[in-house]
Amino acid sequence: MSASPEIPTVNLDDLRDPQKKAGALEAIAKGFGVYGLVYVKGHGVGTMNDLYDRFVSFCSRPTAEKERYNRSDLFYQRGWTPPNTEKAVVAGGQPDFKECWFAAPTPLSRELQIQFPEVYADNVWPDGDVNADGVFARVYEERGKQLHEAGLRLLRGAAEALGLPEATFVDVAEGGPHVFRLLRYLPLDAEQAREKKVLWGEEHTDFNLLTLLPGGRFHDPSGAVAKAPDAESGLYLRTRPSAEHPNGQLVRGTAPEGCIVAQVGQMLEMLTGGTFLATPHVITAPGVPGWSRMSAAHFVHVHGHTVLFPMPPFRNEETLRAYSPPVLAGTYALKTLVDIGLAPVEALGQLGYRHYDRLASTRR
Ligand SMILES: [Fe+2]
Repeated sequence: MSASPEIPTVNLDDLRDPQKKAGALEAIAKGFGVYGLVYVKGHGVGTMNDLYDRFVSFCSRPTAEKERYNRSDLFYQRGWTPPNTEKAVVAGGQPDFKECWFAAPTPLSRELQIQFPEVYADNVWPDGDVNADGVFARVYEERGKQLHEAGLRLLRGAAEALGLPEATFVDVAEGGPHVFRLLRYLPLDAEQAREKKVLWGEEHTDFNLLTLLPGGRFHDPSGAVAKAPDAESGLYLRTRPSAEHPNGQLVRGTAPEGCIVAQVGQMLEMLTGGTFLATPHVITAPGVPGWSRMSAAHFVHVHGHTVLFPMPPFRNEETLRAYSPPVLAGTYALKTLVDIGLAPVEALGQLGYRHYDRLASTRR
C-alpha cells in the first residue's frame, strides 16, 4: 500500500456559501476526476452504531432462521444475503466473505415495481427483538435517507463542477432503485488469516451512480468493538492510473474524523464518458483470525429508464466507442446482478420479446 495522496474533503455546507462554493466545486472535480472519491463533511448522517448492534444480533441467529429472509427471488436486493453469495467480476468465482441486509430507504413507484420487480421490491424486515417496535426498520430508513440526501447534495456539486446544470444528475437519480446495505465481514479461521490470500471483499467497482460509505467498525474475536488489529485491514480504494502511478495508488478508505466517503460508480462514469471514473475498492481482512467487521453502504442509482451513455458534452469518438451500445439502467442492473452472482443467468431471458408463444399457439 502506498502513502495516501491528498484526497479532497468537501464540506456540503460550502456548496451553499457563495464565498466557499468555488473551492468546494474544485475539490469535487479533483476528487472524482483524479481519485474517484471525496471525503464529505457537513453530511448530516447520524451514528451507525445502533444499526450495527442490531445487525450483529441478527447475524448471531441460527442460519435456518436467517434463511427465512433469504430473498434470492429478489436477487438479494431485499432482506438477508447469506455468506458466500456475491462475487466480484474479477474474483474468478471466489465469493466475498460477508453477509448483508438490503433495504430501500426511499419511496418506490408502483409502476417501476411492475417493470423491475426485484430491484424495486418492497422492503422486508426481521421479526423478533432485532426490530422490536420497528426500531431497526425506522433507523435503517432514517440513516439511508440521510445518506441519500448527502449524496444528492454532492451530485448537485458534481454537475456544477463539470459545467452542467446543477440538477443534471439529481434529475436522472429521481425514482432510482436506491438501496442501503448493511454488511458483516466474517471472521476468518487461522489458515485463511495466515495465508493472507483471503479477501473479505475482492476488488471491484460499484455499478450504481454514487456510493456513500458512512464508516465501519471492527469486532475482536470476543465480539467486542475494537480498533483494527493491523494496519492493512479494512477498506482500500485504488486511485486513477497516472504516468507516475500506472496502476493507481491503493489508498486507505478511512475518512477523517466526522467525514464519510463518497465514491464514483459505473453509471456516473458512463454518463460522463469517463471524466469521473468508477473507483476500484477492496476490503482486506486482518492477518489474525477471529475478527469481523461491520460496515454500511448507500447506493444512489439512476431511474430504471435512464439510458446509460455519455451525455452530449462528453461524446467524442473515443467515449462513444468505450461506452457503446447505450443500455437502459434497469437492463444494466439485471445484467450486472447476474455477473456478480446475485441473479440467476436465466433472468436474462426476461430481456427481449416474451410473447413468441402466442404466435406458436395461433399457428397450431
Ligand atoms: Fe463496493
